[in-house]
Amino acid sequence: MFQDKNILLGIGGGIAVYRMAELARLLIKQGANVRCVMTQSACEFVTPLTFEALTGEAVHTDLFDLTSERAMGHIELARWADAVLIAPATSNLLAKLAHGIADDLLTTMMQVCDAPVLLAPAMNSSMWESAATQRNLHTLKDDGFSVIDPRSGALACGEQGIGRLPEPQALADAILPLLLPQSLQGQHWVINAGPTIEPWDAVRVLTNRASGTLGARLAQYASAMGASVTLIAGVGTPNLGCDVQRVDVQTGDEMLQACVQVAQGADVFIGTAAVSDFRFSEVSEQKIKRGDTQQLNVQLAANTDIVASIAGMEHRPKKVIAFAAESEKHIEYAKAKLERKGVDAIVANDVNNMDSDSASGWWIDNRENGINEESIEKCNKMQFSQEIIKKVMELKP
Ligand SMILES: Cc1cc2nc3c(=O)[nH]c(=O)nc-3n(C[C@H](O)[C@H](O)[C@H](O)COP(=O)(O)O)c2cc1C
Repeated sequence: MFQDKNILLGIGGGIAVYRMAELARLLIKQGANVRCVMTQSACEFVTPLTFEALTGEAVHTDLFDLTSERAMGHIELARWADAVLIAPATSNLLAKLAHGIADDLLTTMMQVCDAPVLLAPAMNSSMWESAATQRNLHTLKDDGFSVIDPRSGALACGEQGIGRLPEPQALADAILPLLLPQSLQGQHWVINAGPTIEPWDAVRVLTNRASGTLGARLAQYASAMGASVTLIAGVGTPNLGCDVQRVDVQTGDEMLQACVQVAQGADVFIGTAAVSDFRFSEVSEQKIKRGDTQQLNVQLAANTDIVASIAGMEHRPKKVIAFAAESEKHIEYAKAKLERKGVDAIVANDVNNMDSDSASGWWIDNRENGINEESIEKCNKMQFSQEIIKKVMELKP
């Protein structure tokens, strides 16, 4: 997700500092180069050694340190960063940044920094709600800083309320938009994801192995590129904590209703959900008893084809993309579906991708000079989503 990106962590003196160690590891695992600047207060909670060991880089703590000024001074550090995350952003740091105070390495560096900056405030809820903190936040947003709000729950001080630092993964997800071009700004994307479940009786259901990860990743990436995204999520679709409008559904019929309702006039619809082709013709409210039955025939009725319905709507989205998971003859079946469903493009992939972290497949679209077919090599689902979004953007409506 962060391959070769330079991310500077500005670490403030809040009780949540320890969580930044996990974040540093997470970012490095996802390909980022990470450097850390710690305030003097932050060093009271966790020593710089922790971050030095995790990042393999010198940790910068002192503005007037001759050694670090020679190695990488505060100006060079600011220029090095592709993005900066300040976390935990203490109420003190918010106040200093809002007023242009530059009395230590981190705040001085921020006066020189041209890179996008994300602030992750974390503090006691009274501090968070105080007039000064809210006023400072307002100023900082006006000045162009991005902010990820603290979460509610049990606080380190023993109180309950708002003020917790978001989970490391949520922080990483919130950095992503800072690094991507906002090319999808003003567009509405609708993406469905995950499996559907069709009830048979009070306890039994018909479902499939889809995890919903790919659709959730597509939603996350499109949103990080500025799109307003609605994710119609089947059961078990991961919540990646990103800024998407999420509608949870269970059955194929609920998925259809939700998609039709929100896809009217959208810019893009991507159907990644593994919608059950069939549902039970009759659903029993009670649990069906086995008794002496040795063989049981059940009747299934076909569900409505959601992607074909969306492609056939009067005010259909400008681009409709279907996914086809096949166990054989992937391209042949996908090409037939492209015609039959009236979609603009189809992504053919193997059923084994359904519950795996990686994916590979083929992008097939219909152009003036005939059918265009491109293979997408095996990669993780985040990279696969990036590839799909690039192709959706290139597709002429
Ligand atoms: C045990 C303890 C925990 C603290 N936790 C927080 C915190 O979570 N958020 C915060 O804004 N300030 C917190 N503070 C207060 C800051 O450490 C203090 O305002 C300090 O001056 C911040 O320095 P800095 O902004 O340069 O890092 C805490 C202080 C103590 C003693």
